[in-house]
Amino acid sequence: MLRRLAAQRILELRQAFRQPQASRSFSTALNYHLDSPDNNPDLPWEFSGKNMEKVKEILSHYPSNYKQSAVIPLLDLAQQQHGGWLSVSAMNHVGKYHLLVCGTTPCMIRGSREIESALLSHLGVKRNEVTKDGLFSVGEMECMGSCVNAPMITVADYSSGSEGYTYNYYEDITPKRVVEIVEALRRGEKPPHGTQNANRINSGPEGGNTTLLGEPKPPPCRDLDAC
Ligand code: FES
Repeated sequence: MLRRLAAQRILELRQAFRQPQASRSFSTALNYHLDSPDNNPDLPWEFSGKNMEKVKEILSHYPSNYKQSAVIPLLDLAQQQHGGWLSVSAMNHVGKYHLLVCGTTPCMIRGSREIESALLSHLGVKRNEVTKDGLFSVGEMECMGSCVNAPMITVADYSSGSEGYTYNYYEDITPKRVVEIVEALRRGEKPPHGTQNANRINSGPEGGNTTLLGEPKPPPCRDLDAC
């Protein structure tokens, strides 16, 4: 019985792929490959006016510091609007770059609030909102283990799809530098991650070492004959 059903399903799929694309039903529409005329990041995509009301309603279910958790219902809504499948431009519309500012004590002492203010005012959004062009959203994270290079942000980059996804740290950041990074991302560039302080190498001291400059002394040896 199972073998007969499986054979029948394979036959249906074979027949579906022999049909011209326009006449295939949704259940067999497995041909929307990335970078095809039907599915590429340059195709414009917007939520309809009616669905924008639903977007607001969905976001209202989440606390102000966890709005990004709405990503799955928003993608579901985009899929419904798009006729049952998600195009890459619809995915991108839900947000390409998610910027996370570390708000834990070492980063806060080193100016993370100023970093976040610079980001929010430059992008014209509140925390956990998405910019009108759908490119950026800004959130907060707790310590990301880079305190020695505080303050820092993380950029979750969805611009190249799931296979090209990156999650990079930008450290020793300043309000001016964070705006420069955002603008570089907007231009499609990949600004170098890691420390943004030209006087540091990775997590090394600014301006180079000030201690342990020479060869370490060997441990003292006891003169056993003198005992
Ligand atoms: S406090 Fe920001 S990385 Fe640790």
